[in-house]
Amino acid sequence: MKNPRNIVILTGAGISAESGLETFRSSDGLWANHRVDDVATPEAFARDPALVLDFYDKRRAAAQKAMPNAAHDALARLDQAWPGDVLLVTQNVDDLHERAGAQRLCHMHGELMSAWCTSCDARHRWTGALGDRPACPTCRAPSLRPDIVWFGEMPYHLDMIDRALSQCDLFVSIGTSGAVYPAAGFVQSARHFGARTLELNLDPSQGSIFFHASRMGRATDLVPAWVDDLLAEV
Ligand code: OAD
Repeated sequence: MKNPRNIVILTGAGISAESGLETFRSSDGLWANHRVDDVATPEAFARDPALVLDFYDKRRAAAQKAMPNAAHDALARLDQAWPGDVLLVTQNVDDLHERAGAQRLCHMHGELMSAWCTSCDARHRWTGALGDRPACPTCRAPSLRPDIVWFGEMPYHLDMIDRALSQCDLFVSIGTSGAVYPAAGFVQSARHFGARTLELNLDPSQGSIFFHASRMGRATDLVPAWVDDLLAEV
């Protein structure tokens, strides 16, 4: 597509796969080894907080060891150089986009490096474990939980995302299976408002038919090449 101005980019676990972080739905992914109902719902946390906290403590530790890859770097480069609006919406809870330098970014499914106090509602940057039930720095209650959107909870930043989708002329989805709504429906919203749509993924996603164009391959190959093409038009 020539000369788009406003871009929305949706990313999923596939963009962090080559940084060594597990995806959810591959044959050896997180959901092959853990039941969603055991670790990713508010009911699971009420029933067995130790199990849930341990799951996210391990993921936080893994994310801290991982490094941004060429796809994260390319999107940060795009963010810094793009003269129009750009919004990078990630379903990922790792911090690899921001560590690569992206700024126009929102985490719709929360962040591993944030803890949320269910007593006083404060949020704190958190890099350590939560499994030992540390006190909330604000109210001292031992009520911190991962600041992660669990199944059955409302994703974050939906107003901002809806606004960006309604104003974008290019929507690009990278490294997501299209299995989880509302993110899986963004392609149809963007099309409804007239945007062109492009999918960059290893395999066709569940919503692949909704995209105007698809490129299949590894994120570290596809994303830098796509960003180079786009920035060559600026
Ligand atoms: P999935 O695990 O469902 O999908 C990952 C996608 O990335 C798949 O379509 C893979 O083909 C693709 N992929 C894998 N390696 C890749 C690579 N190197 N380059 C490009 N693509 C690659 O992960 P998500 O779609 O992110 O939500 O999952 C969506 C949500 O489901 C997550 O945010 C999480 C999960 O349950 C919550 O926990 C609320």
